[in-house]
Amino acid sequence: MDINQRMNELIEKINLYNEAYYQQNESIISDQAFDLLLAELIKLEQENPLFARSDSPTQKVGGTITKEFKSVTHQFPMLSLGNTYNETDLRDFDERVKKGLEGEDFEYVCELKFDGVALSFWYTNGVLQKGVTRGDGTRGDDITANVKTIKSLPIRVSSTILPSTYEIRGEGYMPITSFDRINAEKIAKGDQPLANPRNAASGTFKMQDSAEVARREMECFIYSYLGNENPFNSHSEALEHLKSVGFSISPTYRVCASIDEVLTYIEDWTEKRNDLPLNTDGIVIKVNDFGQQERLGFTAKSPRWAIAFKYPSEIAQTRINSVSYQVGRTGNVTPVANLEPVYLAGTVIKRASIHNANEMERLDLREGDTVFIEKGGEIIPKITGVDTSARKEGNAFVFPHACPSCSTELVRLEGEANHYCPNDTGCPPQIKGKIEHFIARKALNIENLGTETVDLLFEKGIVQNVADLYDLNADKFIGLEGFQSKSIQNILSSIEKSKQIPFRQVLFGLGIRHVGATIAEKLVLHFHSLENLMQASLEDLIAVPEIGDRIALSVLEYFAASENKDIIERLKRAGVQFSEEISEIVLETTALDGKTFVISGVFSHFDRDGLKAKIIANGGKVVSSISAKLDYLVAGENMGPAKLEKANSLSIPIISEDEFIALLS
Ligand code: IVH
Repeated sequence: MDINQRMNELIEKINLYNEAYYQQNESIISDQAFDLLLAELIKLEQENPLFARSDSPTQKVGGTITKEFKSVTHQFPMLSLGNTYNETDLRDFDERVKKGLEGEDFEYVCELKFDGVALSFWYTNGVLQKGVTRGDGTRGDDITANVKTIKSLPIRVSSTILPSTYEIRGEGYMPITSFDRINAEKIAKGDQPLANPRNAASGTFKMQDSAEVARREMECFIYSYLGNENPFNSHSEALEHLKSVGFSISPTYRVCASIDEVLTYIEDWTEKRNDLPLNTDGIVIKVNDFGQQERLGFTAKSPRWAIAFKYPSEIAQTRINSVSYQVGRTGNVTPVANLEPVYLAGTVIKRASIHNANEMERLDLREGDTVFIEKGGEIIPKITGVDTSARKEGNAFVFPHACPSCSTELVRLEGEANHYCPNDTGCPPQIKGKIEHFIARKALNIENLGTETVDLLFEKGIVQNVADLYDLNADKFIGLEGFQSKSIQNILSSIEKSKQIPFRQVLFGLGIRHVGATIAEKLVLHFHSLENLMQASLEDLIAVPEIGDRIALSVLEYFAASENKDIIERLKRAGVQFSEEISEIVLETTALDGKTFVISGVFSHFDRDGLKAKIIANGGKVVSSISAKLDYLVAGENMGPAKLEKANSLSIPIISEDEFIALLS
């Protein structure tokens, strides 16, 4: 038998044993014999790389160190789900679905809401091409090498009905058994244990070493099929087919004929979900029929045909020992409670945020108090109350007057809940926080520089502000432990790359208080360059839509400080972008001046973007929701019935495409 034939034979055998093991839960070969076959295949592939197949089972067990993750654009955006917390909200959702489907019969599919990370898998001609994280919903990280370590994820799929390209989505997770095993190992070594299985999953899928990912035995439950071609009529049909061709579908899903059956499902799983191999934080309810899903459509953020129901969060009681005060990058001081460690919903809690001085006052916390803590959706738990009946003598906590880090007198702006340390250029946590913000992905995206390196460079006095980053060179790393010339080169080249980042991201990166990514974009679209922005008066600033006094004053204050001006001057000299070419809209007419439009449905002369552009080019504005102030609803074919009804109830003029064209003349 020739080598190629032997390799193919090995692949077939290993795939068969894997399938028996992972799909049918049957071990038809001893572990030792299996390992021997796998080792033979690995060796043959190493010796004969020309014959090595990309769908080989050896590709599943991790291996080489990958450098950095490539960012890729999702073929279909990865949206999130609306949340409900009680029966009334669920019944409201059911009513909305009924209305959207105009009384037609329909079914739901209920699934558990798995608590891991959303992953997307791209297949072409039955072969897994890419595994991608959710990222910001539009772009995610290509983590193909890591998803290939998921043993239950088929690398090759053989199906007569799946089209040539499609996407499968699911929740990647760390099984509780892996979580416990890894933490036991970490504790034995004296390392910090992983916080909880969800964080552990997201951290693990972003690891550079896929061999370590493989060791962590990650898993994934599949919950969606997506594709330009859809061979299925319903979600449950898709799940069953995907299961039959080797995908891991949780057997816990159920088709329900009514919202009452959905409520029974919720009830059935309230307790039982604690016995599963992974954490779940609720259930997901989806309209089953794909045609009906399409008719219900999406809002900007989530589908109208699905919703999540969150189980009430668990509450724990513990003792509050002390309060620490943390200083953030903009100088805001947050009180954090140090608690007697307590177990809550899968993790041991030692600290909880108290948010601000008002909240501290409201809770009237005293040393040694017994407090109730709750985990909402967020990772940091909250103190929700105090058991005053259990109160013994204890001093009340008093919010400090001075910064706990640099001792500067704190200030509290009129009408604001937070206290700030005004020493923004001399207070260490603020300086470090500002540098970390500047290098973040949405800002200057300096990829190879992490928090720990920033801390080290700051502590050593090498980087004291963001402009110092651009003075870094290899010599400045001499004598610092843990930096190889390759990693230094990576840091320097990502700093160099940041000089191409557009001005709107740079402006966001400067970390001006109240100037988030959206406000930065609005300012850049209006002023185009830093020069113009720095010359703007209070009146000029508040003339920009959505910029109020609070933001305007903060911008003025930032540019008035000479330290900030110096930093900007140095960044400019380094070549960082401080202006952006904005293509001006050339008005065709002013026929629609000041008029607002909602567009809905499909049009024959324009696509939706074309119609929007036409409205803007003629002086009008396009908004997304119908209110009493709206001037026109432009109705195309198949427009949403809900929009039609709302427009009618508010007596908004509903015009056709032709009537719209007539308005232009
Ligand atoms: S369906 C449009 N089904 O929940 C989103 N999501 O906010 C469709 N999740 O990040 C998602 N279990 O990763 C769906 N059975 C399930 C799920 C599930 C967990 C996660 C998902 C997403 C979040 C939705």
